[in-house]
Formats: sequence, structure tokens, C-alpha cells
Amino acid sequence: MRLLKGEILSNEKYGPDIYKMEIFSPYIVKNTGASQFINIKCAPENVRDPLLRRPFSVFDIEAKFNVFSILYLVKGRGTRYMSTLGRGDILDFSGPLGKKLDLTASRDNLLLIGGGMGIAPLNLLSKLGLGMGKNILMLAGFADSRLLRWERDLVRMGVKYRIFSEDGTWGEKGLVLDHIFDEYRVFTSHDIFCCGPLPMLKVLQKEFKGENIEATAFLEEKMACGMGACNGCVVKIKKGSDDFNYKRVCRDGPAFGLSEVIFDE
Ligand code: FES
Repeated sequence: MRLLKGEILSNEKYGPDIYKMEIFSPYIVKNTGASQFINIKCAPENVRDPLLRRPFSVFDIEAKFNVFSILYLVKGRGTRYMSTLGRGDILDFSGPLGKKLDLTASRDNLLLIGGGMGIAPLNLLSKLGLGMGKNILMLAGFADSRLLRWERDLVRMGVKYRIFSEDGTWGEKGLVLDHIFDEYRVFTSHDIFCCGPLPMLKVLQKEFKGENIEATAFLEEKMACGMGACNGCVVKIKKGSDDFNYKRVCRDGPAFGLSEVIFDE
């Protein structure tokens, strides 16, 4: 992990209140793997408000151009500030953070299940997996069609995918979860990775447990230091049958075995 500064190459609207920012950084491009993230200072130079950096999954890497991108939703002061930045501005960030996922150890078939903005780390995972010759199926669910532009990226990447939206304005109408539970037997030869809202992860955990299906979840937690020093991002991870450890999402994760995570009620 390093403290870095990178030139912003673009910061474009990707959907209502959603932006995609492209940043030049040979260091991040060379050293970042699946499931890793960066921590961004969301204020001008010499300003320390907001004080805490914000974590963002690496969404894509264009190795040829030494460029990586993030996807973010504008929902507070920090991300509002980020949305005002443009080409040529310098981004202050640290990274790569989190444990790199070792895809060489995974099976040839990967099923990626994303919900809402949780597609961000799965997008990079699918690109890296395709580059290693894996067969990837992306199943993604949304409330509406706000992230419609992502479909263009999926097509460009050449990944197999199915999109579900609750209001029926994009892809197939309905919940991605319904599809998985209708057809989960098809996926027994897959390694499964999921990222999305907590209710989605909880349902997946419950249903997969019943079918003895293992999956890896990318957790998204509020963070402070982003590098394991403050314990601001701990989650409970099962230890044995009736005990648990606190693990730091930023340092020990963000990828954990879905069946090991103890979600608060
Ligand atoms: Fe500080 Fe994770 S954010 S330990």
C-alpha cells in the first residue's frame, strides 16, 4: 500500500448520481488484484474536512494505458466533492488496500452475483477472470435502470451476463435471487462470488447454507484508516461451531467465506 497521487483522466456521469472516474496510476495498475480497493481523500489539498478517506473498489483496470477506474454514488459531502473534479485534477488516495483474491486457486467456472453498486468489485473480478481463461457468468440485480450504462462495459468485456431489475425497466423483471434459487443446481460446478446490499447477502447465506453451497462475499463496511489500524471496520467471523473472531474488512477482507460471516440482526 502506498499514499499516491494520480491524474484524473475523466470523471463522467454514469447514471443518475453515479459517476465513473478514471485515474492514471501505473502503481495501482501493476499491483492491484481482485477485490482490492483504494481510499480517497475527499477534500482539496490542505483541507481536512471531511477528515476520513472514503473506500472505493477498483472497478476496472486498463493495463495498456496504466489507468484504473472506480464507480461511485454521490450520497454525501465526500462523494459530492469528488463529483466536482475533472480531467487534469489530481486525486489523493492510498492503495491498493485489502487482501488480493487468488484467482489461480479458483475453479474454471465463476458465478458472480451482484446487487446495485456491489457490481463494482465484480466487474474487475470478471475482467481478471476472463484474462485467465475462466468461464464467467455475471448475474446482477437492480431496483431500476440507473446503472444501464454498465451493460455497455459488460458487452465490451465479452462476459456472459443476465440483468434483473425490480421495476422491469432493464433486463428481466424480478429479483436476481429468484433466478439463482430456481436454478442453483446448474451452478454446482462454479465458484461463487457475491457483493451487494446486506439483505441480499443475508438471503444468499441462508439459502446456500440449506443447499451446502459455498460462496465468497465481498463485504462493504464504513471505514476510517483503511489499513487495519483503527478497528473501525470489524465484522464477526465464525470460529468453530460456536465462537467468533472480529476481523477487519479493510485488512483481513473484504473477501470472506459467506457462510462464516455473522450478520447482525
Ligand atoms: Fe481502520 Fe479497517 S478501517 S481497521
